[in-house]
Amino acid sequence: MSTVTLNIDDRKVTIPAGTTVLEACRMNNIPIPTLCHDPELTNSGSCRLCVVEVEGMRSLSPSCVTVATQGMQVKTNTRRVKEARKTVLELLVANHPLDCMTCQKMGDCSLAQYAYEYGVKDDVYPGERRNVCLDDSNPFIVRDSNKCILCGKCVRVCEEVQGRSVLDFYQRGFESLVGPAFGSDLSQSDCVLCGSCVSVCPVGALTEKQMIGKGRPWEIKKVQTTCPFCGTGCSFDLNVKAGEVIGVTSNPEAPVNGRALCVKGRFGTDFIHSPNRLTAPLVKKDGEFVEVEWDEALDLVASKLRAIKSEYGADSIAALSSAHCTNEENYLMQKFMRAVIGTNNIDHCART
Ligand code: SF4
Ligand code: FES
Repeated sequence: MSTVTLNIDDRKVTIPAGTTVLEACRMNNIPIPTLCHDPELTNSGSCRLCVVEVEGMRSLSPSCVTVATQGMQVKTNTRRVKEARKTVLELLVANHPLDCMTCQKMGDCSLAQYAYEYGVKDDVYPGERRNVCLDDSNPFIVRDSNKCILCGKCVRVCEEVQGRSVLDFYQRGFESLVGPAFGSDLSQSDCVLCGSCVSVCPVGALTEKQMIGKGRPWEIKKVQTTCPFCGTGCSFDLNVKAGEVIGVTSNPEAPVNGRALCVKGRFGTDFIHSPNRLTAPLVKKDGEFVEVEWDEALDLVASKLRAIKSEYGADSIAALSSAHCTNEENYLMQKFMRAVIGTNNIDHCART
């Protein structure tokens, strides 16, 4: 593998050829703030927060789109660099609602974090702020374009990871927005509500509706699990607060799916605490379902299965089991069908 050696903040670093200055810094634990960069997406170089000084270059260079070259001299932390980054943040904050106290993203907002680090005040550039309507048109995602910093990560993840290309920039200048074609709602677009855009948004412009008001990041425990909806084997982190699952966060480290999830995996966990779930067996008596003890329910099922088997044969009985059960429960179900009932008529919703 060919390598290049460069100098970053008076440190000699050797990295694979073709590496960007940003990647070179991250490989060597040199912090660089970023808003539009994501290691899984193409670089757009649009936010300009990652700028560094490169010897011989008149203007500051965005490190995420600057390839490191042999002998390059880079400074990441000079006064000029810090002032440029602060100005970028001041301009973003100047057109931001600053409703942080009630924003769902509080505690996990990159803009707030960097504004704090760089000592940004909110009154440097007074003037007009965007005032557009929320897109609350679908059951899962709320779009608040007033908070959008136009980083384009949602546009790129929709095109490059999900392959849908539902989102893009539209209008120009101060009026610039991100959304589906012709400024329509997500519900009127080809959006499949995978939620990938929510997972990359660095601010509160895209939020999961079911999580709103349910918990702050520091109150949430993340528990890695495998999705119970199909046989693909995607994994993600359950967000658990006070013993209750309040949502899902995709995990870029998930071996099968990375950050990608479908609408069921990302938004379908509300069944866990649904009051509609059965908690006791029901048996129909005089046309009405009534709660009974387990023994009574199991005796009834056993007698019905016995009667069907003796009259029509074992192959007249079939069972469907569920990915919502554990592997062990599903194993027992097929064992029961094969060894007790005597048929191979057993199937599972996650087989495909
Ligand atoms: Fe970036 Fe979020 Fe705006 Fe998309 S909605 S451009 S991810 S800030
Ligand atoms: Fe480099 Fe945005 S992170 S320009």
